Amino acid sequence: MDLETSLLDALDPVQILVRAGFPTPDSWQAEILRSPHKRVLMNCSRQAGKSLVAAAAALHEALFTPNALVLLVSPSLRQSAELFRRVTDLMRSLGQTVPVPLQTESLLRLELLNGSRILSLPGQDDNTIRGYASVNLVCVDEAARVDDRIFAAVRPMLAVSGGRMIALSTPSGKRGWFWREWTGEGDWLRIQVTADQCPRITPEFLAEEKRSLGEAFFAQEYLCQFVDLEFDIFNMDFIRDALIDEPELEL
Ligand SMILES: Nc1ncnc2c1ncn2[C@@H]1O[C@H](COP(=O)(O)OP(=O)(O)OP(=O)(O)O)[C@@H](O)[C@H]1O
Ligand SMILES: [Mg+2]
Repeated sequence: MDLETSLLDALDPVQILVRAGFPTPDSWQAEILRSPHKRVLMNCSRQAGKSLVAAAAALHEALFTPNALVLLVSPSLRQSAELFRRVTDLMRSLGQTVPVPLQTESLLRLELLNGSRILSLPGQDDNTIRGYASVNLVCVDEAARVDDRIFAAVRPMLAVSGGRMIALSTPSGKRGWFWREWTGEGDWLRIQVTADQCPRITPEFLAEEKRSLGEAFFAQEYLCQFVDLEFDIFNMDFIRDALIDEPELEL
């Protein structure tokens, strides 16, 4: 890879996606990748492209910041492994244009020849996360489903290192740190992407999903709404019982 190309890639993280076979990143994906903001919250529809952008941000940091430590956090081990695979897929897609060779790779971690590491962690055990100091970037995928204790463990770690945090999620009720930060006063760059803003999701698909999921689930999964689904289900049951079991009132 020539110096000019390498410099362009270093300066513009969007090039990672372009070179890996995604020639037209969505504007919000480019915004996240180019943002200098230290704290980014993304409230996104299902299938918008959250995991892809988290993987690209992680890979760019590792490739162009020597000795970087990048943590990928997901709610479960299965999701961590899946997100990590997105990183290794991107790396392989770069092929000959990859500026730094791989040194070691396992199921949930990779190390590059420049000393950078990307580790993928399941967000269930805050003790594991507390073991890492000086973190350059934490990407939290499905952040609304990641335990509050993980968030508490990660924040001080970033304060010392001056690192960045990018948290991406589809909502999951009015609870937890993702909801609090999304609706709070904290200094975050907040970006919202509903399904109708995603060029890969068709209106026909959305109409069918709405019919099949019902309004509340549809609003959560595709319209970025923090819906209290338990409350909705309770209300539905309450109304159904009232309609079915109660004797008719004499007016
Ligand atoms: N800019 C893009 N250009 C082409 N394809 C894209 C782009 N962004 C995402 N995709 C594709 O869209 C699909 C969904 O992407 P991804 O898995 O990153 O979304 P997600 O928001 O994490 O989905 P989920 O809600 O299911 O976790 C993938 O096949 C991905 O490769
Ligand atoms: Mg995903």
